[in-house]
Amino acid sequence: MTSFYQHHVFFCLNQRDPGDRPSCANCGSQAMQEYAKRRIKALGLAGEGKVRINKAGCLDRCELGPVLVVYPDATWYTYVDEADIDEIIDSHLVGGRIVERLVIDAPRGEV
Ligand code: FES
Repeated sequence: MTSFYQHHVFFCLNQRDPGDRPSCANCGSQAMQEYAKRRIKALGLAGEGKVRINKAGCLDRCELGPVLVVYPDATWYTYVDEADIDEIIDSHLVGGRIVERLVIDAPRGEV
């Protein structure tokens, strides 16, 4: 069975109160999700058979965040800024090469 999207990317946008566990929204995840969506659209990569950038609730990797996950690869990334998002898009989503320096763990079966 083929995937509806070549790459389906989920950004955790969960926000918690100060003093609670860390949360991705408190690390700027919303701005980065919006940036990724704009960039994918600008590159002509949005849509069926290509790339989808989605918002997600807590993915329960909070202490490693902010986090995003790319399916069907099941590659988990953290990121800091737009340069990191650009690298994930250019290297992984376009070039098919995992950005090892931003991976928070390897895909299942590759550990
Ligand atoms: S708050 Fe982002 S993974 Fe939990």
